[in-house]
Amino acid sequence: MCGIFGYVGANQAGGDIILDALRKLEYRGYDSWGVAVGANGHIDIAKHAGRIGDAVAELPDAPIGFGHTRWATHGGVTDANAHPHLDCTGRFAVIHNGIIENFRGIKDRLLASGHQFHSETDSEVIAHLVEEAMADDPNRDLISAVREVFAQLRGLNAIIVLDNRTHQLTAVKNVSPLVLGQGTKGLYLASDALALVGHADRIHYLEDGQMARLASDGVTLWSAETGASQPPDFQPLTLTANDTSLGIYPHFMIKEIHEQPEVLRNISSHYSEPVKELAALIRESYGSFLVGSGTASYAALSGSYLFSRIARRHVNFTVGSEFKYQEHFITDRSLVIALSQSGETADVIESVLAAKQRGAKIAALVNVKGSTLDRLADFSIPLGAGPEQCVLSTKAYTAKLAILLMAAHELNGSLHVARELLWQAIDGIEQAIAPDSANLIRAIAARIVQREHAFIIGRGLSYPTALEAALKIKEVSYMHAEGFAGGELKHGVIALVEQGTPAIVFSPNDETRDDILSGAMEMRSRGALTIGVSPVNDQIFDEFIPVADAGDASPIVNVIPAQLLGYELALLRGLDPDKPRNLAKSVTVK
Ligand code: F6R
Repeated sequence: MCGIFGYVGANQAGGDIILDALRKLEYRGYDSWGVAVGANGHIDIAKHAGRIGDAVAELPDAPIGFGHTRWATHGGVTDANAHPHLDCTGRFAVIHNGIIENFRGIKDRLLASGHQFHSETDSEVIAHLVEEAMADDPNRDLISAVREVFAQLRGLNAIIVLDNRTHQLTAVKNVSPLVLGQGTKGLYLASDALALVGHADRIHYLEDGQMARLASDGVTLWSAETGASQPPDFQPLTLTANDTSLGIYPHFMIKEIHEQPEVLRNISSHYSEPVKELAALIRESYGSFLVGSGTASYAALSGSYLFSRIARRHVNFTVGSEFKYQEHFITDRSLVIALSQSGETADVIESVLAAKQRGAKIAALVNVKGSTLDRLADFSIPLGAGPEQCVLSTKAYTAKLAILLMAAHELNGSLHVARELLWQAIDGIEQAIAPDSANLIRAIAARIVQREHAFIIGRGLSYPTALEAALKIKEVSYMHAEGFAGGELKHGVIALVEQGTPAIVFSPNDETRDDILSGAMEMRSRGALTIGVSPVNDQIFDEFIPVADAGDASPIVNVIPAQLLGYELALLRGLDPDKPRNLAKSVTVK
């Protein structure tokens, strides 16, 4: 959460470059934004609550500066709490991503020694700490001062300090991501490689505890722990403008929904080797655990069903934030399989670090290459889904399902079956996103858009699909949607069903069909408007969304109507599907 971007170079329009890059990073947090540039002997800042939109930063020309898009943690969404923050002298500005867990004590001490604070954020303490560290010797090397300051901060943080006297940016990180970019017009730092497209040709992922100084004479890296200098390990930036633009689509959400067949074609055709390695790790382990948060957790839960039914393997499942309460089972013979689009989710990273401490092997299914999880894992499978810029996860979800399906079949010695099922699923998605299907979903959305609640049921493999469908609908349209196991209906939730309550029913051609139809009937008898998602219609469905039968790959197909329904509901409610309120991509805080 929070996007950060820094620039040092030959271009005097630093403020414009930074503001433009922040637009690409805004999906990491869009409560407020701010840009600082160092020019004419002082630091100029433009910062505002709200989204960037078409804003123009009224800033002087400058070849050095940085900017920030905020997802608020400490302090409300106000101009004052927007980053960057200055020290008392105005020499240093700071931007920060993360949470400084011990900021309260630091702030109290700084206040007692006379520092003036202008925000309620934890981040502002960094500027004052740097000021203090430089107070005795204004010519002290900023690197050593920032190193001393960073050692005082507890938590998963990435910071950049702008020094307007020595014209440099100094950065350091712990877990929260920072990517260094080098291009013909200068040097860059960003919390996401995406923002470097069009600027940098080469990138280096900063390691935890690695410090970087960017100045007009180049970049230098050091270890924050030892102070020893380290050479950057540059690699080409492979993302292109095509990867980051909307193309023919009005929103990234619909673009990414439509990209799913291509993502799955790639997985089905090229993932045999990594899938075999993952299956071998599961086979060799004494206990495997799938871990993920949010949508990734539903992919993980689906995985536990797939391994059970296809490979007859018990693969545990835990959501990232709960892992630490169940980690007692982990030994040096365990395997933890972490699932994450961003590779930066703090809850998942914390789980992985805890498992590593117990000696477990870590496998990861991660979309963002070079991300923390990608680098922490002993074995990492890139999802290859391309950048997900809508805050909602869609294509990364189906990519994870496809890899888990293949791994389950590989364990069963039937990888070729998984490939066939995936091709059926790809055809099924093509049908689900075709104009006729999309029109049907739009009409159903119009029928239910005024409702406050929706309930979604599925059994077996379709249970995680029901949970994911509910998450998609509620996070983008703000309609309260609740997914649950069809059998649980009569144990309480049915009390909430009223005349016209939408009830989405996942009813694939599997062993769950009869029971789930009974559940649907129970809801309909109490007034629910039943919406069947199934290869086969039934008289108890008031609305019917036909989907292809893809056997055990059906969860990949069945989630598509829910993604589309969420999208259409958001549009009908006048909401921006790419940036729902209160959310951000990459949840790097606990
Ligand atoms: C839902 C969504 C979130 C993420 C969750 C984990 O659409 O995007 O629930 O799935 O925050 O994120 P990653 O996959 O990046 O670990």
